[in-house]
Amino acid sequence: MRMVDLISKKRNGEELTKQEIDFIIEGYTNENIPDYQMSALAMAIYFQDMTNSERVHLTMAMAESGDQIDLSDIKGIKVDKHSTGGVGDTTTLILAPLVASVGVPVAKMSGRGLGHTGGTVDKLESIKGFEVELGSKKFNELVNTNNIAVVGQSGNLTPADKKLYGLRDVTATVNSIPLIASSIMSKKIASGADAIVLDVKTGSGAFMKDIEGAKELAQAMVQIGNGAGRNTIAVISDMNQPLGFAIGNALEVKEAIDTLKGEGPADLHELCLTLGSQMVYLAGEAETIDQARSMLEHAIETGLALEKFKTFIASQGGDESVVDQPSKLPAAAYTFEVEAKEDGYVSEITADEIGIAASILGAGRTTKDSIIDLAVGLVLNKKVGDKVTKGESLVTIHSNSESVTEAVEKIYASYTITQKVVERHPLVYDIIHE
Ligand code: URA
Ligand code: CA
Repeated sequence: MRMVDLISKKRNGEELTKQEIDFIIEGYTNENIPDYQMSALAMAIYFQDMTNSERVHLTMAMAESGDQIDLSDIKGIKVDKHSTGGVGDTTTLILAPLVASVGVPVAKMSGRGLGHTGGTVDKLESIKGFEVELGSKKFNELVNTNNIAVVGQSGNLTPADKKLYGLRDVTATVNSIPLIASSIMSKKIASGADAIVLDVKTGSGAFMKDIEGAKELAQAMVQIGNGAGRNTIAVISDMNQPLGFAIGNALEVKEAIDTLKGEGPADLHELCLTLGSQMVYLAGEAETIDQARSMLEHAIETGLALEKFKTFIASQGGDESVVDQPSKLPAAAYTFEVEAKEDGYVSEITADEIGIAASILGAGRTTKDSIIDLAVGLVLNKKVGDKVTKGESLVTIHSNSESVTEAVEKIYASYTITQKVVERHPLVYDIIHE
């Protein structure tokens, strides 16, 4: 087989076989195929698209290009959740103990990553003593005993995707449905998930700005997952403003505790119930989505979910007393209120800009080696649709520096206040099963 022939085959709009796709991904991973040929292929895919079976083959080839996590020692159906990204997305911190408390095994591998705030692993590290480096034996043991463990990413997962994503970034081929969908799904499959619930975000703060694009991506991923023998469903949810109130590491842990108590922000609570019921259903712990939802509501009302969060923290060496005393979490030295300059209604909070404000304060990493300040961040006091009067606080800044001018500017740039009453966005637009 020659790469040049496969590039021309794809360029002409023909379908590549499994053997051909395996040849490409193996060759690219072990550097027998150079970047320039892979770039040409990515561009051919960008224009010619891929059939559903090509997408499944590409996903599986990338999933198999490096280490694969073996969760077969863990009892039950392991359901993973993935969000296509957004600002201040605290759902994983809540969903993990919530669904574990009703019997779903949660074996979660989570990254640190770059972004406006840290990843789930960073957030958990704001709890004193919490250990995210677990050996695989310990990890499996914890999931079998408590239904829950979260471990930091290690090993060499999907090296083909890592190389290809880097290449796409500099060859204008990121924005391709088959390439995005296979990239995301290869990582989920390599992490050992039996079933997958996807939270595909749409709106100004999301990768997919409009609902049609989000649906197309969701369908592509659901078809790949199902084609690869992993039951997959996707929820299309709103990212026209940040989810919940808190953006920051310790602040989001506090928000997760509130939500597990049933006292969290309405949108975050609702999205967790929506995603969580799909997870419980796919894990086979409920006969219907409605039944799954009632189980989760019950777990919150009775304190079972909160209890599971404590067990989870303690089992990984953390100080579980933060759950009853969140004041033990890292706290910033200063708080500042960003006040509304006029009366009106909030019509927009661009998630990107508010995320940058959090990142300026030090809540996120700008390079792989940056150090995160776990205490800092933002709490939104007003969300889209809320009425505001001049002088009221839009946002509370938690900072370890006395100078927050730049963050304040970003916050004002992110908020739009209008004179007309504003309709709130729906939170969930659609659920995609096939
Ligand atoms: N996220 C990924 O992991 N891969 C993509 O291609 C795009 C977003
Ligand atoms: Ca949040």
